Amino acid sequence: MEYTLDKFIEDSRMAAAEHPDFSDVVDVLAPKMLKLINGDRSFLKPEHFQDDPHHYARNAVFVCPEDGISLFTMVWNPGQWTPVHDHGTWGVVGVLKGVLEEKSFIRTDSREKDDEGIVLKRGGVILLKENSVTTFVPNPDHIHKTGVPDTREQAVTLHLYGREMNDYYCYNVATGRRAHVQVSYRDATGV
Ligand SMILES: [Fe+2]
Repeated sequence: MEYTLDKFIEDSRMAAAEHPDFSDVVDVLAPKMLKLINGDRSFLKPEHFQDDPHHYARNAVFVCPEDGISLFTMVWNPGQWTPVHDHGTWGVVGVLKGVLEEKSFIRTDSREKDDEGIVLKRGGVILLKENSVTTFVPNPDHIHKTGVPDTREQAVTLHLYGREMNDYYCYNVATGRRAHVQVSYRDATGV
């Protein structure tokens, strides 16, 4: 039996409701994301593959603020990157096409939740190929930037989050400051 988007959303709601520890949530949902993206992708419509010439595109597949669950496709043209950011929640990411690159940062100052005096150390890099899955949890912050270098082809990815994900902290590595910013998306739900 095919694993449908509706079943994936139902499983995501249940996992989020049942497990207070975010690590348990992503433990349950990572293999389900793998099954979803490696199965029948007919739930994805042309609207979910729309790009944006100015920056990476976020297309909402499913958003339910009451549940605290949201699902987006992201379309990364060559040379498009996020800023350095965190999420404040858990996430499960599957690669639909191309290679997504993730560069990690680790906060090393002891000021914890302060918005300045932030010292970030660069961590490693991960290259995620089509049909692979990664996850993250705020531990206390998962800080990274993701994107596609201009030497590679367009990538498309599917992102499940534990909240609506319409805002996040962006970090300026050089000044040691972070700012809370709104992030927009194109509503491609119900298409
Ligand atoms: Fe991210």
